[in-house]
Amino acid sequence: MNIGIVGTGYVGLVQGVILSEFGMNVTCIDINEEKIGLLNQGILPIYEPGLKEILDKNVKSKRLKFTTSIDDTIQNSHVIFISVGTPPKEDGSADLTYVLEVARMIAENMNGYKVIVNKSTVPVGTGKLVNNLIKDILNKRNVDFDYDIVSNPEFLREGKAVKDCLTPDRIVIGTSSEKARNIMKNVYDVLYINQTPFVFTNIETAEMIKYASNAFLAVKISYINEMALLAEKVGANIQEIAAAMGMDGRISPKFLHAGPGFGGSCFPKDTKAITKIARDNGEQMMVIEAAIKANEKQKNKMVEKIRYAMNEKGDLTGKTIGVLGLSFKPETDDMRDAPSIDIINGLVSYGAKIQAYCPEGMKEAEWRLEHINSSIKYMNNEYEAAKEADAIVIITEWHQFRGMDVSKIISNMKDSFVFDLRNVFFRKQDKVNKLKYFGVGV
Ligand code: UDX
Repeated sequence: MNIGIVGTGYVGLVQGVILSEFGMNVTCIDINEEKIGLLNQGILPIYEPGLKEILDKNVKSKRLKFTTSIDDTIQNSHVIFISVGTPPKEDGSADLTYVLEVARMIAENMNGYKVIVNKSTVPVGTGKLVNNLIKDILNKRNVDFDYDIVSNPEFLREGKAVKDCLTPDRIVIGTSSEKARNIMKNVYDVLYINQTPFVFTNIETAEMIKYASNAFLAVKISYINEMALLAEKVGANIQEIAAAMGMDGRISPKFLHAGPGFGGSCFPKDTKAITKIARDNGEQMMVIEAAIKANEKQKNKMVEKIRYAMNEKGDLTGKTIGVLGLSFKPETDDMRDAPSIDIINGLVSYGAKIQAYCPEGMKEAEWRLEHINSSIKYMNNEYEAAKEADAIVIITEWHQFRGMDVSKIISNMKDSFVFDLRNVFFRKQDKVNKLKYFGVGV
């Protein structure tokens, strides 16, 4: 089966590579010529463990191609995935410009039956919008090709995207067409045979499953972060609280790690989008709105924790702070809505100088933090970031930070404040100065 994937962002690229691994003939399309040029040389625009090996293998076997030529690809594909960005607008709603532009191009190039699959996270009702747009254009073209619209949300996590796509918890297919349902079963045949659960729904339900899942996880994180704030005040330990809570099968231990707040390309954007969708429909998502506010508060609390521990007036003038980890989570170079951005901005605004190190996030950080260029230096490793620093702040829990030589880090510092915003040293506290060690909720 020939598959066209429009958009080679995170979701589109990973999906394209994995579908070729599942035996489909996949063509990934993007308007960005430079990106396509690089992909054709086997150079990935993102850092994602394990992806390059599978990409190289499938390019070699000619099951995977990259092109800027959308017209041909649409004409030659049986199934076309729309995997373009839906950036947030000022009011929090998702900007559908790119999705609708791709739908328009599909309609203009349609030459027979197509299954049009929406992979981008879009507001409920977008499937209908896409359908109406395509119908209009086909009418104007005076042609009457048959087609079906499917909503097939993606649940991959950055850093674990390959695993999540190869062995997903479930595949959600939203369509009212039996024919499209069967074609989608064929697209994911490998998973169907392997007994991955398939959930068949209408388009609107599938569209909402994605938002409901992401918002739920975001709420769970804000919940444990609030508990962490209270635990600190009353002398309890959030690590132990979360572990014990997680033993209850109804709660589960996942997404119960207290930290500096959630970030990334999905949770901040999707939580805002669903609250906007709700308001547009005369409802209010009070729990999700509270989780968003709690997340903002959490990042501020981290800045306050650092300021007042280091100086009773909260002034950081003359202080050098080593920041370990910039990307919004480990195993990715993605800095979108990373808590590190707000935390670093906060520390700098109170006078601190930053020495930052992140295994993958520094390139993106350089332009996202360009406005504070004179207050931030990028270092070659965690030891350099700590050298002569008054404090280190661990913002992202990269494995290499868990394993670092704590005594060596401390011995090179000017002072010995350790702000462990991911509690990675929780079990190594004997190695740090207890009076100057600050975790989250411990
Ligand atoms: C998320 C969803 O997990 C995925 O299903 C969806 O398709 C896209 O959005 P992702 O953004 O890649 O994936 O990362 P995820 O691992 O979910 O983490 C999101 C944020 O929550 C990160 O900032 C992470 O540090 C934070 N987090 C996660 C916590 O603070 N505590 C936790 O217990 C888990």
